[in-house]
Amino acid sequence: METSGKSCVELGILNEEELINLGKRFASCLENGDILILSGEIGSGKTTFVRGIVHGLGCNPIMVTSPTFTLMNVYSCHKTVYHIDAYRLNSIDEAFYILEAELEEDDGIFIIEWGETLNQFFNEETINIRFEHIDENHRKVSLCVSQEILQRLRRCL
Ligand SMILES: Nc1ncnc2c1ncn2[C@@H]1O[C@H](COP(=O)(O)OP(=O)(O)OP(=O)(O)O)[C@@H](O)[C@H]1O
Ligand SMILES: [Mg+2]
Repeated sequence: METSGKSCVELGILNEEELINLGKRFASCLENGDILILSGEIGSGKTTFVRGIVHGLGCNPIMVTSPTFTLMNVYSCHKTVYHIDAYRLNSIDEAFYILEAELEEDDGIFIIEWGETLNQFFNEETINIRFEHIDENHRKVSLCVSQEILQRLRRCL
């Protein structure tokens, strides 16, 4: 499957523990400046995946919560993680307002839940991950990235 220059690969149908472990592994292939756009319905596992990433970067995953009131959560781990939930924002402008300074400095990893509306504003280089509810305990996870990024991420999948 291929969309807008990105190739999509299915990473599997995973239970919660497997999804967290995927996040942990994934973390070790991430670089400062990476922008992850997580999509999928409510309860599909986006925040759970962020917990895995944050754990993989050496922080306590318990610190990861939905950035509901704060708009953005910042986790200072081996790398800095900026965690945004676009669902809670009033407009796309608001997302950019929040992220502007950090995006310019490329000094961390950006993770945006419900960020698909932001796709058009970023170049090809975003890392898009889609979560689908399969049953109570399983989620299907798909990754859409450029070939170049896929090469980098492959060993962490
Ligand atoms: N395989 C699984 N992967 C992830 N979460 C699972 C899985 N099976 C069950 N769950 C449960 O589903 C819920 C997932 O919630 P989570 O907050 O990660 O979703 P979300 O996509 O971030 O939702 P929201 O859109 O509200 O932010 C949790 O309660 C978790 O325990
Ligand atoms: Mg969430």
